[in-house]
Amino acid sequence: MKITNIMIDHVHEPLGFMYRKKPCVSWKVEDTDAVSAAGTRLEISADDAFNEMIYDSGMVEWHENVFPADVKLTPRTRYFVRVTVIGDNGESASGTSWFETGKMDEAWQGIWITPDCSVSVQCPVLEKSFSLDRDVRRARAYIGAVGLFELYVNGVRAGSEYLTPYCNTYSEWMQTIAFDITGLLVNGRNTVEIMLADGWYKGPMTFDHIINAYGDKLGAIGEFRIQYADGSEFTAATDSGWLSHPSYLQSSEIYDGEVQDHNAACDTITGVKEFNPGTGLLCDRLSLPVTVESRIKAEKLIITPAGERCLDFGQNISGWLEIDEQLDKGKELKCSFFEVLDPDGNFYNANLRAARQEFIVKGDGQRHCDRPHFTFYGFRYVKIDGPEQVNIDDYTACVVHSAMDRTGYIETSEPQVNRLFLNALWGQKDNFIDVPTDCPQRDERLGWTGDAQIFCGTACYNMDAAAFYRKFMYDIYLEQKREHGCVPIYVPTFHPEKKTFDFSPAWSDAAVIIPWELYIHSGDRSILEESYQGMRDWVEFMRAMDDGSHIPEGTGFGDWLALDVHNDRAMTGITPKDMIAGAYYLYSTELTAKAAGVLNIVQDEADYSKLADDIRTAMQREFVTGSGRIASDSQTANVLSLMMGFASDRKYSAGQLNEKVENEGCHLTTGFVGTAGLCRALSDNGFNDTAYRLLLNRDYPGWLYEVEKGATTIWERWNSIKPDGSLGDVSMNSYNHYSYGAVVEWLYRNAAGLVPCEDRPGFRRLIYSPQPDSRLHWLKARLESAAGTYRSEWSVSKKSIDYLLTVPFDCDAELVLPDAPSEILINGNAAAYSRGMLLKAGTYEISYQPTVPYFPEYSLDSTVRELRNSAKVWETILSLLPGLKELPSYIIDFSGGSTLRQILDGNMMDCSEDISDAIAAATEDIMPWDA
Ligand code: BGC
Repeated sequence: MKITNIMIDHVHEPLGFMYRKKPCVSWKVEDTDAVSAAGTRLEISADDAFNEMIYDSGMVEWHENVFPADVKLTPRTRYFVRVTVIGDNGESASGTSWFETGKMDEAWQGIWITPDCSVSVQCPVLEKSFSLDRDVRRARAYIGAVGLFELYVNGVRAGSEYLTPYCNTYSEWMQTIAFDITGLLVNGRNTVEIMLADGWYKGPMTFDHIINAYGDKLGAIGEFRIQYADGSEFTAATDSGWLSHPSYLQSSEIYDGEVQDHNAACDTITGVKEFNPGTGLLCDRLSLPVTVESRIKAEKLIITPAGERCLDFGQNISGWLEIDEQLDKGKELKCSFFEVLDPDGNFYNANLRAARQEFIVKGDGQRHCDRPHFTFYGFRYVKIDGPEQVNIDDYTACVVHSAMDRTGYIETSEPQVNRLFLNALWGQKDNFIDVPTDCPQRDERLGWTGDAQIFCGTACYNMDAAAFYRKFMYDIYLEQKREHGCVPIYVPTFHPEKKTFDFSPAWSDAAVIIPWELYIHSGDRSILEESYQGMRDWVEFMRAMDDGSHIPEGTGFGDWLALDVHNDRAMTGITPKDMIAGAYYLYSTELTAKAAGVLNIVQDEADYSKLADDIRTAMQREFVTGSGRIASDSQTANVLSLMMGFASDRKYSAGQLNEKVENEGCHLTTGFVGTAGLCRALSDNGFNDTAYRLLLNRDYPGWLYEVEKGATTIWERWNSIKPDGSLGDVSMNSYNHYSYGAVVEWLYRNAAGLVPCEDRPGFRRLIYSPQPDSRLHWLKARLESAAGTYRSEWSVSKKSIDYLLTVPFDCDAELVLPDAPSEILINGNAAAYSRGMLLKAGTYEISYQPTVPYFPEYSLDSTVRELRNSAKVWETILSLLPGLKELPSYIIDFSGGSTLRQILDGNMMDCSEDISDAIAAATEDIMPWDA
C-alpha cells in the first residue's frame, strides 16, 4: 500500500497560500489489495519528525476524499502532514507532505513603493542591497505588486512561476506571492530586484482597451525574512531607501507583446517613493503557479508564397518562444505570433483584431537566450523578421499554463475522435493561464463566465481544476458583492468604478454551476461552504427581478453563435432568450437547493426546492404544449428541456430533439448554450445512436469537421475555416475557444460511462454506465479521480461487448450496463445482473451478448440513410443494383428516410426477397468502423 498525492486545499506542497479555516487534506491510496479503509489518521506537526504535534485525528473511520483539519495556523510557518491508512486486510501505509503559511493577517513591515522619477519608465526595476554576515538556514520573500513582477536575487530569478501576482479583481483583493529564496542568498552582500510591467493591472485590457483599470502606477511591497543558521533573524523590507532603474524592457503588454533592447541604458538610478496602489486587501495567494509545462521544437520552417519565414510548431498553444540569438548591435528580431495560415498559405493575423502579439528583440552583438517576461501569446505559427538566417533550432516554444495535474485520458479506435479529445485538452491548457479565458490570442482573453461554466464539467475530468476554479470563484464572489449578487459576463471586469454590470443567463449562472461541478468532482464540501453565499446571491438577484411569472426577461447572449438562424450576422440563435433565462433560473435554483441540502441549511433547501418547482411549472405552462412538444423550433430548446428539467414528457422531447437532428442530416445547429448538452441529452434519453452519428460526422457543421481541417484546438465557430478553405469573419474568429470542446464531457460520461454519483461525490461511488457503439469498436478511458484511479475500457464485437473496469480503493461502482441480459460474465464467472448492482474496489472483466443487435443488418428494409452511413455498404448496394445509379440523383438525395424497398418499388425495380438476401450476404462482413 502507498499513500500518494497528498494535497492541502487541492494544492501540492503549497507555500504561502490562503488556506481554509480548516485546511482540507486529501490523498490517494495505491498499490493495495485492500478493498476499503479500516482506519485513517491525520497528523499535523510543526516539525518533520512529528514531535511537535498540533493536530492528531487519532485512528478514525474515514471514507471521504478530503479531511478538514481543525488547526489554528500562525503566519510564515511550515507544517508537516502525515496521513496513515489501514486497509481492511491489515495492510497499512503512511505518507508525508507539508504546507506553509504566508503572512496571513500579520502587519507588513514594508511599504508600497514606486519609482520616483519625472519621466515615465515602461518596465522599471526596484532594487535594494543588504549584507548578511552569517550562513542562512531559511529565507523567504513575500512580495505584492501592482503590475506584474519578477523577483531576482543576486541576478537569479526566484521561483519557477511566471506572470505573478496574476490576474484578479485588484480593486477588491491583491495576492502576495511567497518565495523560498534560501538557496539564492550568500553570506555577504546581496541584491534583490523586482522588475515590473503593466500586465492586467494597468495595461490595455478588454476589447475596449481600457488602460489603468486598477491604478496608474507600478509598484511593489516586499518583505524578506531571513533566518540564520544560529537561529537569529534578519528582515529587509521595501522602504524609502530602495532604488529604481529602467530595465531592458522597452514595453510589455498582454495583447501587444514585448519589446526588449539589449543596448538599453539601465543605469539611470532614481529613488522611490511611498504610494497607495488603491487596491483591495493584500492577502495570501489563491492562484496556482503559472509555469512552463513543456517545450516544443518547431516541426518545420515554412517559406510562404509571399516569401515570409514562418515557424510551424504543429500545435496551437499558449506561451512564448525562447530564442537563442546573437544579433548584431542594433539589429532587430521580430516574432509575430499567429494561429493559422491564410488560404494561400501566407501569414495571417487579422483575427487577432487589435492585439499585435509580437516579441521584438534588439541585439547588442552578444549571445542571449531571450524570452518575454510579462506577456503570453496564442499561436501555432511564428513569423520571423530580421535575421538573415532562421535556424529552426534556435527557437523553442514554451507551453505555459496554471499547473494542474492531468486526470483524464481517453483513446478510441477512431483517430479523429482522439484528436478531438486532445484538441479540447489543449484548449483547456491554452485558456487556463490563471483565469479561465475565452481565448488566448486576440484583444480579449477574458474570464467569460459563460465559457467557463460550459466547459467546467469537461475541465474537471481532464485535470484537477479545483484550486484553479477556487480562485476564479473568489473573484466572481467579490465582483458579485459590488452589485447585490449580480454576476458579470466576464471576471475580472476591469471596471472597478462601475456600479452595475451586464449579466446574461448561462454566463452569470457560473456562480452556481461551477461550485456544484467542483463539489461533485472533488467530493469537497468546503467548496460549497465557500461558494454558497455567491450561489444564493445570484438566485436571489434573479428572484428580485422575478415579477411573479417565474419567466425572467430574455436578455444576454442567447444561444450564442447558434446556426439555426439563417443570417450570418445574427449571433444569438433562435431559441427564445426568455426560455434560456428560465431554464437556467430553474437549474441554478435547483442546484442551490441541493447545495443547501448538502450543507444542512434546512430552510433554504425547502425554500429553493419550492421555488424550483414553481419555475418548472411556469416554464411548462409557457414553453411546453399539452402534448409535451417544446414550443421552439431549435435543437437547443429541446436540449434545455431535458438537461434543465422542464420537459413534461422526456420521451417526447427527446424524440423531438432526435427528429430535429435527423432533419438536419444529423448535423448540429446549436450554439454555446445547446452544444454542451446535446449529445448527453440524446444518449441519456434513448438516442445514443444519434449522439454517435453527430460526433462522428465529418462535414460542416460538426466536431470532426474542424479535425478534418487540421485543427489542433477547438474553434470558436463551427466554420472558423469554411468548407471552401476561406477563413471566418475576422471580427470574431478564434481558433482556440474551448466552449464547443464540452462534448468531451459526453465522452467521459456517456461513452466511457464515468459518471460521478451525487450521493457519494468525488467518485467515492461511480455510476458505471458506459454506452458503447459499434462504430467505435473500442474505447479506453482512465480517470485519476479525486478518490483514485478508475479504468473503463470496452470493445464491441459481433459476439459480445467486453468491458474492463477498475474501481479504486475504498470506492465502489454501481453498474448500469446497456442492453445487458439477466446473466453476465464477471471475471469469467456467470453472475446475475441487475441494474444498480455494486462492485467494490478491484478489477473486473465483464462480458455479455447484448439483448439488441449492436451491428446493423442491412436489407431491403434499411433506410437509404442507414445504407449511406457507410460508404462501403452503399458501394456494395450500387454494385448489386446498378439500376440505382441510373436514377436522377435527387431521388436518392431526398429519400434518406425511405427504405430501399420503397425506392425500388416506386421506380418499378426488382425488390424480391432474393435481392434482400443478397444485400445481407454482401454486407455481412462490413463492420461499422469500416464506414
Ligand atoms: C467571447 C465569448 C463570449 C462572448 C459573449 C465573445 O467575444 O469570445 O467566448 O462568451 O463574447 O457573447
